Amino acid sequence: MNNHENMYEANYVSRLFDKMSTTYGITNYISSFGFTERWRKQCVKEINWNAELNQGYDLMSGMGESWYLILKEAKVNITGVDISPKMNRKASEKLVKNVGWDVEIREENVLDNTIKSESADFVISTFGLKTFSQNQLKELAKEVVRILRKGGQIAMIEISVPNNFILKTPYMFYLKRIIPIIGRIFQGDSNTYKMLGIYCEKFENCKSFGKELENLGLNIETKSYFFGCATGIVGYK
Ligand SMILES: C[S@@+](CC[C@H](N)C(=O)[O-])C[C@H]1O[C@@H](n2cnc3c(N)ncnc32)[C@H](O)[C@@H]1O
Repeated sequence: MNNHENMYEANYVSRLFDKMSTTYGITNYISSFGFTERWRKQCVKEINWNAELNQGYDLMSGMGESWYLILKEAKVNITGVDISPKMNRKASEKLVKNVGWDVEIREENVLDNTIKSESADFVISTFGLKTFSQNQLKELAKEVVRILRKGGQIAMIEISVPNNFILKTPYMFYLKRIIPIIGRIFQGDSNTYKMLGIYCEKFENCKSFGKELENLGLNIETKSYFFGCATGIVGYK
């Protein structure tokens, strides 16, 4: 995992999250001091959960971290889409424990998916954008626009590089140096978690992805959470 040349290849990303799957939940929660959980909640609440929403997608759904938050807001059908078999296995275990949830999982690359056009009343994604290159984000934007029905809503959030210099230096140090140490404590391997900081640094923030969506005709607002430590996009088709 030291050569980053292929860091945006589907196989690489899938294997990375397979590796992380045993420790992702706890490491994520502890290393973010609970912020990721708070940001997930904020992202889910950006959707206007009215009675017209029946079905939608959680892209890069991981272990289904956002599902209980969505289902607290509305009784909807969720399809989780994730490329990592081991993250999906963890997500399936969650479904076994929560029998009433109307959730299905599609194990596929979101850039090469089988989702029906205009089938989504909503599309959500929490912390699933950073592992895409700028070109891949353009493709992802096209997919999101394709699958949203007219009037369908979108809310996405991702860890970002804050603009504020005073915050940027310690935050990036934390992401790139401290989180790998926490990862090593839980997993015995710091390289896997080191990648999260590297992806984040290259991703920067949600602005350019928001612009792509806007250029494709969506109404988009870019959001900043906790001084830009996370950013998001919210909007509709
Ligand atoms: C940082 S995790 C986020 C998981 C979850 N949404 C959360 O809130 O914690 C990113 C997830 O995106 C998935 N992923 C990355 N690239 C993908 C792709 N091209 N297609 C589908 N899933 C992808 C990974 O397997 C991983 O589970």
